[in-house]
Amino acid sequence: MKPYVKINFACSMDGRIALRGGKAFKFSNNEDLARVHRIRSESDIILVGRNTINLDDPKLVVNEKYHKSDHIPDAAILDSNLTVNYEARVFTYPRKVVIFCGSGAKDEKIPVNLRSKIVLRKSETSRPDSGFVLRELGKMGYSRIMIEGGKSVITSFISEGNWDEISIFYSPVMMGEEGIPMFGVAEYPIELGTPEVSKLGKGFLVRIKKGL
Ligand SMILES: NC(=O)c1ccc[n+]([C@@H]2O[C@H](COP(=O)([O-])OP(=O)(O)OC[C@H]3O[C@@H](n4cnc5c(N)ncnc54)[C@H](OP(=O)(O)O)[C@@H]3O)[C@@H](O)[C@H]2O)c1
Repeated sequence: MKPYVKINFACSMDGRIALRGGKAFKFSNNEDLARVHRIRSESDIILVGRNTINLDDPKLVVNEKYHKSDHIPDAAILDSNLTVNYEARVFTYPRKVVIFCGSGAKDEKIPVNLRSKIVLRKSETSRPDSGFVLRELGKMGYSRIMIEGGKSVITSFISEGNWDEISIFYSPVMMGEEGIPMFGVAEYPIELGTPEVSKLGKGFLVRIKKGL
């Protein structure tokens, strides 16, 4: 069965998801973090791009400070050439980390002593596309997928129509044109559904469900 895909990210009022050079910025307030960690706790697997791991080093777990849960979701990384940093924190939990790579990737550099179990899925193309990723995750039994970025991954899944819900938290800051935009190169315009908007602390949340 096709998994249900929730895309979630946070940005500035001018739609930037990171500072100049891709440096991470904490856009979310406590109210938003409680929401994000609740969605993590309800997800089977959390997916990000290779740059997000190498730049931000997220743990991709549920932080009990924001939401109580014993569930450790699996993680997925899109990484065509297997250049992810294997010392990243995502690999330090007892769970599966599924890495989607391209046809030419060489897997001999994957360490064998990681706490997480690496599962490799190689696409027939040089880069794993979002359709391939979802088909494979579905075959592996994942039904609730959360996507947390970054820009290129968000762009791929949304522009290729492989999403069910998009949640964007807007923080009351401006980042300017050198900040990293939330969307990259794609065929535009991309039609979305009707957004639901709600206030969340000093920011606001935009939630769009496909087909509404
Ligand atoms: N504000 C937020 O909520 C939030 C959340 C997460 C990240 N971020 C920010 O996002 C920035 C990183 O974004 P990014 O665009 O540079 O990187 P990214 O989306 O994290 O990763 C992109 C990389 O993934 C690989 N990839 C493989 N298959 C892909 C596919 N089908 N579609 C897209 N990418 C694929 C590509 O590298 P290969 O060619 O090597 O495979 C690509 O360069 C960072 O600055 C981070 O701080 C912000």
